[in-house]
Amino acid sequence: MGIAVTILGIETSCDETAAAVYNGERGLLAHRLYSQAAMHAEYGGVVPELAARDHAGRIHALVAETLRAAGLERTGIDGIAYTAGPGLIGALLVGGAFAAGLAAATGARLIPVHHLEGHLLAPMLEARRPEFPFLALLVSGGHTLIARVDGVGRYAILGETLDDAAGEAFDKTAKLLGLPYPGGPQLARLAQSGQPGRFRFSRPMTDRPGLEFSFSGLKTAVLTALPKDADAQTRADLALAFEEAVTDTLAIKCRRALQETGLRRLVVAGGVGANRRLRDKFAQMEQHGEAEMYFARPEFCTDNAAMIAYAGWARYRATGESGSGIQARARWPLHELEPA
Ligand code: KG4
Ligand code: ZN
Repeated sequence: MGIAVTILGIETSCDETAAAVYNGERGLLAHRLYSQAAMHAEYGGVVPELAARDHAGRIHALVAETLRAAGLERTGIDGIAYTAGPGLIGALLVGGAFAAGLAAATGARLIPVHHLEGHLLAPMLEARRPEFPFLALLVSGGHTLIARVDGVGRYAILGETLDDAAGEAFDKTAKLLGLPYPGGPQLARLAQSGQPGRFRFSRPMTDRPGLEFSFSGLKTAVLTALPKDADAQTRADLALAFEEAVTDTLAIKCRRALQETGLRRLVVAGGVGANRRLRDKFAQMEQHGEAEMYFARPEFCTDNAAMIAYAGWARYRATGESGSGIQARARWPLHELEPA
């Protein structure tokens, strides 16, 4: 905690419109989220133009409601943090333009935030928070990486996926199994009724040194094993075998990263961090004394504005500068961030 400024966070990088208020002394004061998932489900994935339009239609009311819930007038905000990238460019511009307008009207400082920095710092919103330095596993729909985190903005990427992100692999495999978008949570639900041991898939790239991942082969393996007229039980068994393969692979690589770096704290962040089997596996590693594990609560693993408000607060605290103009970057490598 620390400096008692109040930061409004705004997230519109993909298909969730979200707003939150964080205060350095009082913590998270309010957070609201509207998911567009049902709208995109009809198309089997996110339609960028529809996402941007929907953000534009909702952001104003959502921010107003969040401020009301926090018991604040808009003049009570010291800084406005918005996701500036990476993400869908039209969607990012809606959040950026709204934030810039509100900052101009209120005199609040404008703070562009890197979406992945938001995910990495999300566990700081919990009562049990990691101290720096720590190792972070970031597993989302667009990214999968292991990083050494020495402080805000001080990230060294130790390994990344060479092809699909873990969340992307979940979503694509869910589609193969006939599940609607967004597939990750649906696949996890289906796996609950799977019989262990009926199928087994390899743990990609764990048989060679290094901290890289590759998940695209797994969905092909599922497709090959999937009978044309698969019954519900077979699909559940495949979902379970897939989920086991992905979560085992993530655990094996994290264990390796802990050993190689000598770090004793591990943060699990990003949408796939909400996965029950993954959380259980990492909790077991903690019980075995391998490392201290830190997770955001599931709703702050997936996209949200609380993590953007927090990252904005951490940036506000570190620098007196205000971002000028609207920043929006569809691609923005994490290593380009400046230390706070
Ligand atoms: O972090 P996030 O909300 O958005 C990105 O920044 O990408 O991550 C979304 C990803 C999706 O691929 C979604 O299917 C996956 O996280 N996901 C899950 C679960 N909840 C979300 N995957 C597996 N199990 C879950 N419970
Ligand atoms: Zn995300």
